[in-house]
Amino acid sequence: MDTTIVDIGESNAYKLAAARALMAAFADRERSAWPDIERAAEEVEECAEGANLCIGAYDGRTMLGWAGLRRMYETTWELHPLAVDPRRQGKGIGSLLLRELEARAARRGIIGIMLGTDDEEYGTSLSAVDLDGGNVFREAERIRNLKRHPYEFYLKNGYAIVGVVPNANGRRKPDIWMWKDLTNVGR
Ligand SMILES: CC(C)(COP(=O)(O)OP(=O)(O)OC[C@H]1O[C@@H](n2cnc3c(N)ncnc32)[C@H](O)[C@@H]1OP(=O)(O)O)[C@@H](O)C(=O)NCCC(=O)NCCS
Repeated sequence: MDTTIVDIGESNAYKLAAARALMAAFADRERSAWPDIERAAEEVEECAEGANLCIGAYDGRTMLGWAGLRRMYETTWELHPLAVDPRRQGKGIGSLLLRELEARAARRGIIGIMLGTDDEEYGTSLSAVDLDGGNVFREAERIRNLKRHPYEFYLKNGYAIVGVVPNANGRRKPDIWMWKDLTNVGR
């Protein structure tokens, strides 16, 4: 079946399929923010409301993955969440969703996208040291991936590390802030 990009807010079937994909995508985490279908459904509702962008890659039966963009600053919006069904990961769906979201955002006059990608499970070299105001930029510059942390996926899609919040989720559990300039993104 062909994969099409859909607006999740358009149908309850899309919303339910998106909630399932979200739960599944984070099920391997020690502490998932979406451990059950109710919490995942709340996230989908939040994503699909108001002026937010909320799109999915749908094959007619399954939501292969989906992504949302919400206002953070006037012209720079926040990517949250991005989830690809574990059985469909590594096939370009995450990148496809980013490209589509970026194009739609650019058409609306949004000029940048921010996102935070937590390192809660010691997945990068940033969680191997005590970060503080004196070393955070140096460590960010020489970041290494230890456990297939998704920051590398974002780097491959043109996002840059623009900051790190040390101890965001507990000691040595930083949040990595990434940003992309949409100036040259095709509309
Ligand atoms: C991270 C995620 C969105 C990536 O989507 P995807 O469809 O699997 O990724 P793609 O197939 O588009 O990958 C594009 C490139 O990024 C790389 N990549 C993807 N995920 C990666 C990871 N976790 N670590 C390192 N590289 C990764 C791919 O190998 C590919 O590289 P290549 O172009 O050199 O072949 C997806 O794996 C996912 O939903 N993971 C679980 C939830 C999650 O972590 N979401 C992000 C939270 S911030």
